[in-house]
Amino acid sequence: MRARLSADFERFRRELPRDFAGYVRQAYRIDLTARYLGYDLPHPFGKGSGQLSLNVDQLETDRAAGLAFVVLKTLIAETPTGERSMGAWAIHETRMAVERRTSADGRAGWTVTWKGRGWDRSLDDYLALVRAGRDLMRAGPEGMLAVPSVKYNLPRLGEPFVEAEYAHTTAQVASAWGDDELPIEKDFSPTLAGDPLADERTQVLRWIGEVPGRIRRAAPRGARVQLKLMNARFDDEFQLEMVGAARDADGVTAFNRLFDPARRVAYGGWDLSERNLRVLDLARDRGIVPPGLCGSGNIGSGRMMLAYAQRGCESGQLHTFFQLPLSEYPATAGSRTARALHALVFDPVDGLIAGLLELEEQGLLHRRDGELRFLDVCAIGNRRGAEHAEDSSG
Ligand SMILES: Cc1cc2nc3c(=O)[nH]c(=O)nc-3n(C[C@H](O)[C@H](O)[C@H](O)COP(=O)(O)O)c2cc1C
Repeated sequence: MRARLSADFERFRRELPRDFAGYVRQAYRIDLTARYLGYDLPHPFGKGSGQLSLNVDQLETDRAAGLAFVVLKTLIAETPTGERSMGAWAIHETRMAVERRTSADGRAGWTVTWKGRGWDRSLDDYLALVRAGRDLMRAGPEGMLAVPSVKYNLPRLGEPFVEAEYAHTTAQVASAWGDDELPIEKDFSPTLAGDPLADERTQVLRWIGEVPGRIRRAAPRGARVQLKLMNARFDDEFQLEMVGAARDADGVTAFNRLFDPARRVAYGGWDLSERNLRVLDLARDRGIVPPGLCGSGNIGSGRMMLAYAQRGCESGQLHTFFQLPLSEYPATAGSRTARALHALVFDPVDGLIAGLLELEEQGLLHRRDGELRFLDVCAIGNRRGAEHAEDSSG
């Protein structure tokens, strides 16, 4: 298997097989099936909302590369008359800097520095992108899931929610999506974490508890709501409270980038994965693994994807790893998405296949009907959490 993996890694430097998940299943007896918001995916790697899911060309390139899913850039909700209580997030900024970032414990990684925020074009333009995404999903076996993302009104304690933003924006997005239940991600962003609005803990917990129901009620054919939680500026205990408060969501994306209050920018790298994995460990140990977990933060290898999976994440959303200088990818041709997938899946040391084979060797993952299954890795994590909860209660 190892020899085969090294050979495939070399062979696919120029081009991945079209249905590489199907190839992995047949060649390695490894089933990479993953899940996001209840949708089955061919493998766990998707793209997080941001500057890489702003237009149809980007979506087409990702579909052609074989990406499992994309979350579209975050739209800022509005009322029927175009008022936006979160309008401060709809600012225009194009310049991004992909930079090296060393973590607090000295590990060299990458971050993207960017001063922009949400979608800065019209609602109609966004609806056109949602329609294009929906068409891509329905494009047959090689379709790709493309889910809208919205930032809605978040009121102060004691103030009511601006219902018109939820009602109008959700109805518009749902109608662009079409006849089925609407999949939607609600973004709590790092710049929100850095905003005075998020200074009040009870206020943040109220948002997380109430937002899923509000979106569902506003969607004519219902909605599946994924909450992308921010990394709040409070301690791990509060981060856990946020996870616990998300129990009404259909899924939780854990967690958006860290906020640097001195530079007033969001950042990632190893500090981000360190925090996310630590909080997910705590959540598991206390038996509060939320439904539909999706990991996000410094996923730059199959190995890191598996670290999230062992803490219950059924898929992962990447942004930074799709933006590295071309010289950082071992592949020698193809789009950045395709080159990234080549490394994420086939790298003989840090790729997903290598990591799954290693879990098998360690006796942590077992073949069922002759196959290793990515989703069984999430069960390893859940089982350990249940054992830990029993130990500490007994
Ligand atoms: C330039 C940039 C813009 C982003 N914009 C959004 C956004 O609009 N909405 C959102 O939910 N997340 C946004 N994100 C967060 C990413 O989707 C992702 O969750 C985060 O960067 C962590 O993943 P990474 O370490 O792979 O970059 C953005 C990230 C970057 C780098």
